[in-house]
Amino acid sequence: MTILDGKKVSNDIKDEITEQVKKMKAKGEKVPHLAAVIVGNDGASLTYVGSKVRACERVGFESTMVRMSNTTSEIELLDKIEELNQNDDIDGFIIQLPLPPQINTQKVLMAVDPSKDVDGFHPENFGKMALDMSTFIPATPFGILELLDRYDVETKGKHTVVIGRSHIVGRPMSILMGRKGFPGNSTVTLTHSHTKNITQITSQADIIISALGVPNFLKAEMVKDDAVIIDVGITRVPDESSPKGYIITGDVDFENVSKKASFITPVPGGVGPMTIAMLLKNTLLAREQRM
Ligand code: GUN
Repeated sequence: MTILDGKKVSNDIKDEITEQVKKMKAKGEKVPHLAAVIVGNDGASLTYVGSKVRACERVGFESTMVRMSNTTSEIELLDKIEELNQNDDIDGFIIQLPLPPQINTQKVLMAVDPSKDVDGFHPENFGKMALDMSTFIPATPFGILELLDRYDVETKGKHTVVIGRSHIVGRPMSILMGRKGFPGNSTVTLTHSHTKNITQITSQADIIISALGVPNFLKAEMVKDDAVIIDVGITRVPDESSPKGYIITGDVDFENVSKKASFITPVPGGVGPMTIAMLLKNTLLAREQRM
C-alpha cells in the first residue's frame, strides 16, 4: 500500500511555483496576485481562506483578502466582483463558498470574469473543461489528477466510481476521469444520494473518489482488494481531547480500508493541501495569460 502524500507533493509544486516567481521577478515582471472574497464568519471558510493567503506569501505571490459581513446583499457582492474584474492588478480571484442564503451562488459565480476565474466555476470554464479545451480546472479535481499523475497511478480502462455530485468536486471529477488522456480514459460511475445499493457499485471499483462529507462512510467491505482510494472528505467532528475541540475526519475508514488499498490518500495531508497548490497553479496561469 502506498500513501498518496498530498502534503509532500503540494510542497514540491509550491517549490516549483516559487522558482517560476523568482524568474518573473528577475525579469522585472509583475508577480501573480490572487484575491479571495469571504462573506460572513464561517470558521472552516476562514481557515481555508487563511491557508490560501499564506500559501500565496510562501510562493511570492501578492494576495488580497476581501472580508464582507454576513448581511452583505447580493448587489453589494456583485459590485465587489465587478471591481475585482476591472482591477488590472488582480490576476485571479475566488469567492469562497458557501455563501449566506440571501445570495444566489450561481448568479455570483457567473459574474466573475472567466479570465480571472481561477476556481474554474464559471459556466464558460466548466464547459471548456467538459470539451477538453484549455481552461482553469477546479482546484480540488485538478489536485487529484496531479496526485494520480505524480504517483503514476494507472487510470486508463479502469472503473472509477465517484461518490457525490457537487459542482466543486464530484461532477467535475466524473467528467475529468472520463476524458481522453492521462489521467483519464476511465469508465466512470457517478453515485449520489439516490444511488441504490452503493456497496455493489463501489466493490467493483478500481478507483474510488469519495466527496460526500460523511465521516467514515466508506468501509473495508465496500472496497475490493488493491483499489485506489481518494478521500476528499474534510468534516469537523467534535473531539474534546484535541486542542481545537474537533478533528478533521475523511469519508474513508482509513484504518481498515488502507489494509486493502493499493494507493490511498490520508486525511489530513492528502487532497486538502493539493487543492491549495492547484489554486496557486491556476493563478500563475492566469497571470501568464494576461501578459
Ligand atoms: N468551498 C469549498 N471548496 C471550495 C473551493 O475550492 N473554492 C471555493 N471558492 N470555495 C470552496
